Amino acid sequence: MAKTKSAYFCQSCGYESPKWLGKCPSCNQWNTFVEEVIEKINSSVPDWKNSSTTLQRAARPAVITEIAYRDEQRQLTSDKELNRVLGGGIVPGSLVLIGGEPGIGKSTLMLQLALSLPKLKVLYVSGEESEQQIKMRAERLLPAAKSECYILTETSTQNIFKQIEALEPHIVIIDSIQTLYSAHIESTPGSVSQVRECAAEMLRFAKETATPVFLIGHITKDGTIAGPKILEHMVDTVLQFEGDRHHVYRILRAVKNRFGSASELGIYEMQGNGLREVSNPSEILLSQREESLSGITISAMLEGLRPMLIETQALVSTSAYGTPQRSTTGFDTKRMNMLLAVLEKRCGFRLSAKDVFLNIAGGLRVEDPAIDLGVVVAIISSHEDMPVPAKICFAAEVGLSGEIRAVNRIEQRIAEAEKLGFETIYISKYNKKGLDIKRYSIEIKTVAKVEEVFSALFG
Ligand code: TYD
Ligand code: MG
Repeated sequence: MAKTKSAYFCQSCGYESPKWLGKCPSCNQWNTFVEEVIEKINSSVPDWKNSSTTLQRAARPAVITEIAYRDEQRQLTSDKELNRVLGGGIVPGSLVLIGGEPGIGKSTLMLQLALSLPKLKVLYVSGEESEQQIKMRAERLLPAAKSECYILTETSTQNIFKQIEALEPHIVIIDSIQTLYSAHIESTPGSVSQVRECAAEMLRFAKETATPVFLIGHITKDGTIAGPKILEHMVDTVLQFEGDRHHVYRILRAVKNRFGSASELGIYEMQGNGLREVSNPSEILLSQREESLSGITISAMLEGLRPMLIETQALVSTSAYGTPQRSTTGFDTKRMNMLLAVLEKRCGFRLSAKDVFLNIAGGLRVEDPAIDLGVVVAIISSHEDMPVPAKICFAAEVGLSGEIRAVNRIEQRIAEAEKLGFETIYISKYNKKGLDIKRYSIEIKTVAKVEEVFSALFG
């Protein structure tokens, strides 16, 4: 017999409680409990046992050395950036969650994927857009694509599975997990218990049929994927699609990946006809300029595991107000304040009455500390109004006493700078150990203090 039951769920972490609580014992948030009606078809039997597709075999322990190893046959897509982020193509039976802010391009990325796999049957389930809207978008993206991409506008998981059984797609894309609802649960779509149940059903389907499933997930205003945290635990891979909506560049970052490195990332450019892969990020991130301008430096950075050269622009001007302004885009303001304090205290530059603006080109956000040296040189270059020669780049961290510290993967950074035609790179002298300087044609200057860099550049 069906039995109606309700429970209270923390909207922040998904904690379930039989009664209302003011404070969540799991995540310590206040006032996050909302009542949701859960109706199980048969409360005494967990619903996955009702499912006819479940393989009812009891697992037995096996010695790990005797488990047959199969190299998963990964499906490579024509999108090299996506292949890289997934750790080398799509793994059969994997459940991938793609999160991102509204309008960043999640639906575009997934539809583009669906259209670019001509030999595979792809089912694109949309609970957000009509068939007409999707067709319009597809015309914009790949008007001549001969793909076997099926569109289904449906939100009930039971109906979706019925269609899947009839169609037997090779890949399923769900846009979005927050719009789905399962008849096993009576709360509204997007609620914690619905999201959890629908994701669990998709997970079972993916594992039992070895069909890869992509779930698009909304993001809340604090940047986490809407719904319970448990969603991220359930899936195999979590990809984050990010970028500044006013800029054209988008970054697809692996946050969690059971089948590859979580530090991979892919870069795209949003164009009028969809997302284009950016295979050589450095070339577009460096602005083309003829003459040298003050306040501009180039740093050899690593984003994930990829080396790229990024331009930093600084503007230092006399403050018109009592409190000078300090503003950054793409860089941590606190870190810039720290670097300004180092310049003031250790190197004697009078910056406390100056406005300082800092901008990382291309709308990227940089967290790699190796940009520090580039940042301080850009600030001093603007302050002194003396340009840094265009063929010089930097890769080092700056410490509190003005010392220049080593950074990781220095060979990769040097090789990228050399490849792009830079003539000189400044690195920390502590990075010198084990480095075969003669191997490179680029001149490598090793320094220990920021003053050394300033006297070499500005005299
Ligand atoms: P969309 O994929 O709908 O975002 P999401 O699903 O993450 O909410 O992307 C919408 C934005 O992308 C929209 O603002 C318009 C822009 N866009 C382009 O610039 N070029 C294109 O070819 C497409 C399809 C969208
Ligand atoms: Mg969308």
